[in-house]
Amino acid sequence: MEKKPAVPVHLGIIMDGNGRWAQKRSLPRTAGHLEGLKAVKRVIRGASEQGIGFVTFYAFSTENWKRSEQEVSYLMHLFVSKLHGELGYYNRHGIRILVRGNLSGLPAQVQQAVATTVQDTRNNATITAIIALNYGGRDEICRAVNQFIANHPGEAITETSLASNLDLPHLPPVDMIVRSANEQRLSNFLLWDSAYAELAFYEKLWPDWDAEDIQRICEDYGKRVRKFGGVQ
Ligand code: FPP
Repeated sequence: MEKKPAVPVHLGIIMDGNGRWAQKRSLPRTAGHLEGLKAVKRVIRGASEQGIGFVTFYAFSTENWKRSEQEVSYLMHLFVSKLHGELGYYNRHGIRILVRGNLSGLPAQVQQAVATTVQDTRNNATITAIIALNYGGRDEICRAVNQFIANHPGEAITETSLASNLDLPHLPPVDMIVRSANEQRLSNFLLWDSAYAELAFYEKLWPDWDAEDIQRICEDYGKRVRKFGGVQ
C-alpha cells in the first residue's frame, strides 16, 4: 500500500500582504483585511481537506496597535462582527475556534465575541482554528513566567513548566510556520513553539490564498527531514 506523505499536525500562518493587495487595486487597506478574512475561510477548508488538525492564524499582534486608529478600529470591528458572525460556517464544517494572546488587553466587545465563539464551537471536531489576537511571542512567554512565579514562588522554572503556562498548553506543537507576501521573518509569532518548526515563505499576498496553497505547503512539508537536533 502506498504510504501517504506526512502533513503538519499543526500549521502556523503569518498572514501578510493585505495592505499591498488593496493598494494594487487602489482600495483602502481595510478592503484588504476584509478579503483576507475570506482567505482565512478558504484556507481552513483546504487545511481540513489535507488532514491538518490545527491551524494558528496571526490576526493581530501586540505591535499592530501602532497602526492608524482607523485601521485598528476596523480590525476590532471585524473581529466583533465576523468571529461569532461566522458561527453557521464553523458548525457546518466542524471548525472549533480557539484564541491565543493577551485577551485582557482587547476591547470588551472583542472579548465577548471571543468567549461566545469559543463556547459555541467547542464540540466541533474536524479542525481547530486558533486565532492569535493581541498576540506577541515575547508577551506570551513573560505572562507564562509570571503565572508560574505566582503559583510556585521561589521555584526555578523549567522548559516543561514554562510550556505548560503558555496560552493553550494542550495543543500539539507547531510543525510548520508559513508566511505570505514574500516577507521572511517571524515578527514575534509563536517564539517558543518555533524552536523546531519548519519555516516556509511564499510570494502570494494573503487575500489571494486558497486551498491549493495549502496543498503546496503540505507537499513542501513532506520533503522536509525533521531531526530535532538529533541525527537522521
Ligand atoms: C497583515 O497584512 C495582516 C493583518 C495584520 C491583519 C490580518 C487579519 C485578518 C486577515 C482578519 C482575520 C479575521 C479573523 C476573524 C480571523 P498587512 O496589513 O501588514 O499587509 P501589508 O504588509 O501589505 O501592508
